Amino acid sequence: MSMIKAKLKKSIRIVLDIFLLIYGMIYYYFNQNKPINERTPPKSYLSMIRLFCVTSGRSNDFISKCISLIDKPVTLPNANGILGNFQRNEIKEIANIIERDGFYIFEQKLPNELIQKLYHFASHQKCYPRPLDENVNKQPQPTIYDRNNLLSSVYDIPMEACIANTDISSLIKDHSILAVSQEYLKTSPKADVVAFWWSTPFSNKPQVNSAQLFHFDMDRFKWLKFFIFLTDVTLENGPHVFIKHSHQTGKIPKQILKEGYSRIPDEEVFKHYPMEDVLTFTIPAGTIVAEDTRGLHKGTNLLKGERLVLELQMSNSLFGACSPSIENAKIQDEDFLSFIKTNKKIFKLYPM
Ligand SMILES: [Fe+2]
Repeated sequence: MSMIKAKLKKSIRIVLDIFLLIYGMIYYYFNQNKPINERTPPKSYLSMIRLFCVTSGRSNDFISKCISLIDKPVTLPNANGILGNFQRNEIKEIANIIERDGFYIFEQKLPNELIQKLYHFASHQKCYPRPLDENVNKQPQPTIYDRNNLLSSVYDIPMEACIANTDISSLIKDHSILAVSQEYLKTSPKADVVAFWWSTPFSNKPQVNSAQLFHFDMDRFKWLKFFIFLTDVTLENGPHVFIKHSHQTGKIPKQILKEGYSRIPDEEVFKHYPMEDVLTFTIPAGTIVAEDTRGLHKGTNLLKGERLVLELQMSNSLFGACSPSIENAKIQDEDFLSFIKTNKKIFKLYPM
């Protein structure tokens, strides 16, 4: 009897979530003049996550398919840029590999000069020590990263500061990044969150709040992240770990999904995947990795040294989680401003 009751309760929850998600999407569509963070009803976003878990990703696939039918890709003059100079068929091949494996490591590296400039920017820009798990609600005070006086495992550079930096804005509007994104997303890419952070060996315990336990991201229906590693990454300074193929529909086991949107202990993950699918990215500075972080991943806790990573996200819609505020960003790069104005479809997050 109690099993029937539980099944009934689950079915009612699913029906309710479907309605809430449809309502949220209609609300999002008809409120285009509202700030982006007020366009997704929070309850609809939670329904999106629950439906992802109960359908093993099929709900996201279905909605992404619908988005791609409505929102067509933009025309780009070429696919040349920081990832390489690509022909149409090469872009297709890269997107197919990401589709199959969940990630792609580009052969071309960031030029040394650009690595130095971004490293210099991150070293002199005020950033926020991310609260540790035991202090998760503490308001961090902005500070300059000081490796000799560590305050946290992660220091976040605000997105507002990042997009005002011309080197970073040139990456956001880079044709090769946009071309790979839209081939993978099958729609015009939406420039989404820019994250830039230092990782440190401050704590010897993996921090949940610093994404150092396995998890899947679920902020949007579909997205692609570009991780740009600005320091050499070894086994000691926090390599990124990704479970190959786990981004595919049905590839995260039900036992994990039934825990919802949560952090998963290593032992639980290793029970379900062969060790050859557990990929640890030890790579030289300048390496760029595109990854669908719908698959299981984590950043490893650092033993020593430091790691600096710039992450650009491109999504098929901005429906979902709140984005960092960028209203006060002081973008002075005229090229970037005019690129935003002429590509409004891509820069919906940007209020200018
Ligand atoms: Fe993540």
